[in-house]
Amino acid sequence: MQDLKGKAALVTGASRGIGAAIARRLAERGADVAITYVNSAGRAAEVVKQIEAAGSRGLAIQADSADVAPLVAAVNQAAAAFGRLDILVNNAGIFPYGPPEDVTLAQIDQTLAIHVRGVFVASQAALKHMGAGGRIISIGSCFAQRVPHGGVTLYSMSKSALIGFTKGLARDVGARGITVNVIDPGSTDTDMNPATAAGADGQRALTALGHFGKPEDVASMAAYLASDEARVVTGASIAVDGGANA
Ligand SMILES: NC(=O)c1ccc[n+]([C@@H]2O[C@H](COP(=O)([O-])OP(=O)(O)OC[C@H]3O[C@@H](n4cnc5c(N)ncnc54)[C@H](OP(=O)(O)O)[C@@H]3O)[C@@H](O)[C@H]2O)c1
Repeated sequence: MQDLKGKAALVTGASRGIGAAIARRLAERGADVAITYVNSAGRAAEVVKQIEAAGSRGLAIQADSADVAPLVAAVNQAAAAFGRLDILVNNAGIFPYGPPEDVTLAQIDQTLAIHVRGVFVASQAALKHMGAGGRIISIGSCFAQRVPHGGVTLYSMSKSALIGFTKGLARDVGARGITVNVIDPGSTDTDMNPATAAGADGQRALTALGHFGKPEDVASMAAYLASDEARVVTGASIAVDGGANA
């Protein structure tokens, strides 16, 4: 299906994991796709090759979502390279873990800079390029809804901010025909959360289905939200979590 042909997308943090799967899927559906990364230049280049193999234009940009200027520049570079920007996927993320008494101010600042401020400013920049049919999709977490164990206070706080952001922005840009949604994944097999790690069985036990998701499961939802089929879905938090929050 090439229903995104003629559209252009930017996916933040897409050299690996969920972001890479989303970038590939949007390209398979016909969109030109730019991605950002921080360290994994080689893997980002691989993703660009996969985007091009799908018949789309690809572009990798090094831009830390914690740094406002390079992040905004990446949005503008993607729009300039493709001549338009229709879809922004705010995916870049980290996983701070540990007891709250050990969390440092630097960790708080970095997490909020990537997960909250970065999402806001990238969306602000992207909206300058978007017209009717525009799509802002953020990747949150099932921990924004329920927190089943300790050690994730900072992470959960940062991801729950995306729910208010999504609802607020959906109201602000709805009249322009732009939708805003957040996908809340559960345990998804990536470098951040390998299905083989110690503790993975505990995560499986929290789900209704009894297994991890794959990055492609989140990509399927992102592609749907990016499509015209989802034109009346906005302001929504959508769980892709194997029933972890059921
Ligand atoms: N995996 C899960 O179980 C799970 C569950 C719920 C939500 N999520 C969310 O899903 C998103 C993707 O997670 P993932 O599991 O795919 O993670 P991952 O495997 O660790 O991949 C993270 C990606 O984000 C990039 N990145 C990290 N920090 C960045 C920054 N400051 N600026 C720009 N890019 C940055 C990395 O780039 P480099 O390769 O250059 O480092 C990499 O491409 C995150 O927002 C995460 O919170 C994941």
